[in-house]
Amino acid sequence: MKTATNPALSSLVRDQINRPSPIRQIMKMAERQNILAMGLDPANVISFGGGWVNHSAPDEFRQAYESVVKDADLFHKSGGYTATLGDMECREQIARFEEHLFGVPRLGAGHIAIGMGSTQLTHDLFRTLLDPGDTVMLLDPTYANYEGQLAFSVPGVKIVRLRVLDPATWSYLPETDPAGIAKEFSRLFDQHRPRMVLFGAPDNPTSQVVPQALADVMLAKTSEAGAWLAIDFAYKAQYFQAPPAYYAWSPADHPNIVGIHSNSKWARGLGRRLGWIEAHPSVVEAIERVQQCSILCPDTLSQMTMAKYLKGAIADGSLRKYVANANALYKNAADVTLKAVDTHLQRPRLKPFGGLYTVVDIGTNADEFVPKALKATGVLVVPGAGFGESLKNGVRISFGPLVKDTPQIDEGLARLGRWMRSYACDT
Ligand SMILES: Cc1ncc(COP(=O)(O)O)c(C=O)c1O
Repeated sequence: MKTATNPALSSLVRDQINRPSPIRQIMKMAERQNILAMGLDPANVISFGGGWVNHSAPDEFRQAYESVVKDADLFHKSGGYTATLGDMECREQIARFEEHLFGVPRLGAGHIAIGMGSTQLTHDLFRTLLDPGDTVMLLDPTYANYEGQLAFSVPGVKIVRLRVLDPATWSYLPETDPAGIAKEFSRLFDQHRPRMVLFGAPDNPTSQVVPQALADVMLAKTSEAGAWLAIDFAYKAQYFQAPPAYYAWSPADHPNIVGIHSNSKWARGLGRRLGWIEAHPSVVEAIERVQQCSILCPDTLSQMTMAKYLKGAIADGSLRKYVANANALYKNAADVTLKAVDTHLQRPRLKPFGGLYTVVDIGTNADEFVPKALKATGVLVVPGAGFGESLKNGVRISFGPLVKDTPQIDEGLARLGRWMRSYACDT
């Protein structure tokens, strides 16, 4: 008998398996088996690792699911395909949502492509807008998944980084040195001619927003050069201050702007996968071609319930109230977190504009610090290097999962602080 030869995985996948997401690695380290293997009691572990929200979805939204599930005809309908770009009524309601909450003008269903969450949409958007060999400009630090998403969707893409965090002073440069950062952006743009500039508003891990002045420079440079300006709005509805004017920029006025949106965070729908792209109709039509090959159609039940919920909640004003209440909850968790960092860690940190996170300068290599801290204290934070070079001595602290249990935030950071003082003496 001939010996079997195992078929090989693709070279792209083999390459990417060897570069796992550092955040996933840390989250794996915090899995029950590993915690037990470290001699810790899983019940005593306090995790600031999770990039997820923990408030409740609107009850009217839950009721929308109930109304579909209890009606045999509607339930049958929810098992059918919708159009590849999503159901027209849901696309229309999402356009109304953006107009109602943020004042985005002249937006219609033709500017909206619905997908299975912003992760899938971002991958398909890169596939739609970029070619191998193109350059993409990202911030440093920024969301750690972009690098892998770019590698998978556009092999050979080059990445250039605009440093927005000064690790020496732990300051967010677009706020502390607006003229300097605008100049540096223009210099990098002219030198590398990126096909796309991409930033998150607010960003993960910093929870900072690019100020209007820098966004204006980015828009001017990209539109003049025929490049895309993509804004990841996964945390758009989570803000603690008035948002900048570009939250209301419309693709009806700016054909090179693409917004990436998600229902994961604002409506606590992380697992009920639904997101959308907001873009010029020519981009939306192009995404249709890509989604025909990736998802065929977004989830029908999620679209039926979202359309129903939004229609009612916009009309009776409950959507605004829901978003305001959720934001008050996260603002409170952010305040508790900053106070606990200042009291117990006494290290530089950033004040979140919105979102779920702050980043703290721990003054030493965080890849080494984090596993030792977990083992010694049962407290998990995320090391910063995966988000960019500027954060290699920093950690991301997420208050999202603990939003309804803020005493745990203080308890976790008190534990970490006590250990850090002894760690500093030992190293
Ligand atoms: C900046 C950013 N974009 C996108 C996502 C993914 O969102 P979704 O659940 O819509 O795929 C996340 C998740 O943490 C994120 O932080």
